[in-house]
Amino acid sequence: MKKGKKLYEGKAKIIYATTDKSLVIQYFKDDATAFNNQKKTTIEGKGVLNNRISEHILSNLSQIGIKNHLVKRLNMREQIIKLVEIIPIEFIVRNVATGSITKRLGIEDGTILKEPLIEYCLKDDKLGDPLIAEEHIYAFDWATKKEIEKVKKMILRINDFMIGMFRGVGIKLIDFKLEFGRFKSNGKSEVILADEISPDTCRLWDSITDKKLDKDRFRKDLGDLIPAYTEVAKRLGILHEQSNVSAVNITKLSSVKRKRK
Ligand code: TMP
Repeated sequence: MKKGKKLYEGKAKIIYATTDKSLVIQYFKDDATAFNNQKKTTIEGKGVLNNRISEHILSNLSQIGIKNHLVKRLNMREQIIKLVEIIPIEFIVRNVATGSITKRLGIEDGTILKEPLIEYCLKDDKLGDPLIAEEHIYAFDWATKKEIEKVKKMILRINDFMIGMFRGVGIKLIDFKLEFGRFKSNGKSEVILADEISPDTCRLWDSITDKKLDKDRFRKDLGDLIPAYTEVAKRLGILHEQSNVSAVNITKLSSVKRKRK
């Protein structure tokens, strides 16, 4: 299977065609953006860590029966995924109130929610991904009721699984963003989990200290983003506990390997 032309470039990833029509390559960039692209930078090694962390989480989700787009990781920055038609909704799942909800509704930061709260945002950068009601999804045919019912069931299982997975390694899953897509095969369309799950798309706090181990380090100028993402990867058992290999070193190693070929 060969890598083809660029199909789409987003803020943190690029999608390339392959010789197999149903598969594409997802490339993780080092670019970091926040506040709808108003704040941007490049953080060397971020893409490498997100590729590994997302692969780990999505393959674990597969094992509990959550169908998703991941086929396999190809290398440090790329994975083969199933080509889907993305549902234009960002599904935000909150266990603890922080971030935009605290400002929007005046809720105290850190309030533990009685039940997971699902919010819907229209995926449209030009409009700044506005919050919408579930009814808007049906009014404008962004997805069917059947699709959203299925997505909601998947979200609650994903949330339960991820809360447990992170709790086991001393991390609180505060909130996260998911995207789903329609995978079409044999004339049928099936909704599956897509995009990525990584510290770029989750809020992750250390269970004891509440230290932020996610993209809020960039959003809030806290610094040390790579050490935080590396810590998440190490705790999940993706990078060896005793290894001091930073993502930056990993990037360098991979480029050395490429040059030698
Ligand atoms: P928020 O508090 O800014 O609405 O973010 C909620 C969660 O969704 C948080 O884990 C960050 C994630 N998120 C994204 O992954 N992409 C986005 O564009 C936004 C706004 C949030």
